[in-house]
Amino acid sequence: MPAHEAIFSVLADLAAQSADHSYVPYSGRKEGCVILLEDGSVVHGCRVENASFQLTIGALINAWSTLHAIGRLDVAAVVQNRPFTPSEKVWLDQMPEFDWHYPSAAVALPDDHLPEPSESLQPIMEDWGTDPMDGASTARLVAEWAHTPQSDFPVGCVVKTDAGYHLPGVNVEHPDWAHIICAERNALSTAVAYGYGSATDIFVSCIKDPGGTPCGACRQVIVELAPEATVWMDRIDQPPVPMKASELLPGSFTGQSLRRHGI
Ligand code: THU
Repeated sequence: MPAHEAIFSVLADLAAQSADHSYVPYSGRKEGCVILLEDGSVVHGCRVENASFQLTIGALINAWSTLHAIGRLDVAAVVQNRPFTPSEKVWLDQMPEFDWHYPSAAVALPDDHLPEPSESLQPIMEDWGTDPMDGASTARLVAEWAHTPQSDFPVGCVVKTDAGYHLPGVNVEHPDWAHIICAERNALSTAVAYGYGSATDIFVSCIKDPGGTPCGACRQVIVELAPEATVWMDRIDQPPVPMKASELLPGSFTGQSLRRHGI
């Protein structure tokens, strides 16, 4: 087997493992994506559905947004457990920084250099203790990695989970505004992709706006994935303001009757 084919096959297996982490109560359609980095490490993404179907995060955007959150864009390959859809290819092709080619239906390469896959990269941060001010300042630091060519409005997020993990998220913009992902959804979908547990605290910093607040799309995703979580909004020169998910979106659409049984 040519060397490239052997590497694609390893990555396809890893993408299938990522798919198993999917949160797909509405369709049962699991999907996974892995991104191989130049040092051989691998970043994972899976499909994360939402009762408001349009807010579903695909495996590709889940994995790609994690790259930004950890400040790594040294991409060597993107591999899925199923072929890229035409719109995923358009999404990849519209990014000005990369010039993709597709050696097969489920593989995208920016060039021909392909390192051996080594280990899964764990996108986790140090515990900052219990002071909410430290959570807010960590979110501010994370915001430095935001990719905001459209808005110049960087947002950083860190999610604490019940399993004790601390995960970063940033907003990742794209020429197609419909496919921009916010910092909060970025961090929450990472928790799902890696099986890091449920969010208990979500620290958010809109570093250019002391009055920042989660957008409607993020509120909808937060109530579904982390209904008991506390969202802490950074106020820059004051302690962060805590809000419960239920306060952020009273009377929210839960999609209970949409859930399929047995998946
Ligand atoms: N944004 C977030 O990342 N989180 C929020 O809570 C508010 C909005 C991002 C999305 C987009 O990149 C930019 O800020 C403007 O909406």
